[in-house]
Amino acid sequence: MRTPIIAGNWKMHLTLAEAGALVGPLRTDCDVDGVDVVVCPPCTALTTVVRALAGSRIGVGAQDVHWEPQGALTGEISPTMLVDIGCRYVIIGHSERRTLFGETDETVRRKLGAAVQHGLIAIVCIGETLAQREANQTFEVLERQLAGGLQDVSADTVQQVVLAYEPVWAIGTGRNATPDQAQEAHAKIRQWVGGRWGALVAQAIRIQYGGSVTAANAASLLQQPDVDGALVGGASLKADAFTAIVQAGQSRRAAARTAAGR
Ligand code: 13P
Repeated sequence: MRTPIIAGNWKMHLTLAEAGALVGPLRTDCDVDGVDVVVCPPCTALTTVVRALAGSRIGVGAQDVHWEPQGALTGEISPTMLVDIGCRYVIIGHSERRTLFGETDETVRRKLGAAVQHGLIAIVCIGETLAQREANQTFEVLERQLAGGLQDVSADTVQQVVLAYEPVWAIGTGRNATPDQAQEAHAKIRQWVGGRWGALVAQAIRIQYGGSVTAANAASLLQQPDVDGALVGGASLKADAFTAIVQAGQSRRAAARTAAGR
């Protein structure tokens, strides 16, 4: 049974004071059993949030990482630095990084290799644009992103990878993929993983859905058999909304337990 994973991507939001105000209630309400909960603040707030959540089960992740351990790379942050401050997760290849900052499957491949080598859990984002979906290229695009980005991942390191299906047209638009659209894409992604690393890995890997997830639509998305969690943008900035999404993750877990007769 896959443990659901609910992650909040705060993007370029929240001052230290605002981050502290959000993390307080999350520590109380989202430190739960049976769901992996992760928050990904901007790098300015990482240390503060790691400290505020110390001793809780809520993990902290960065939103990006460079592949080099150190160097003359102004503005970049290395995997060594993330591990040093207590980060356990990192988002790689978010569509905003791909579209606005020129990231490619090749940079995803390098970042992913460095992240897993340093023991981080990588949340690797993939997803098609609206034009690609309308041209019936969704699965071709996803396969290309998977093949390029995950090229170097071995059977030993794939357990450190979480995949996030984030259709670009659903991000920040209020137009989430329907549960059926999400399920269809997730099933294809799982099939691809099976072809690459075999059935056991395909059954174990977690695939999050991201794109306009809210307290209102989380449960219907998370009821889909291949939707193992959510990568949440806007709604992760509100404690009550994010908590409700975490609770939807708990319900998914409970339903899976019942189905498995445990
Ligand atoms: P929204 O939930 O704001 O659509 O953002 C999704 C996202 O990009 C998470 O990484």
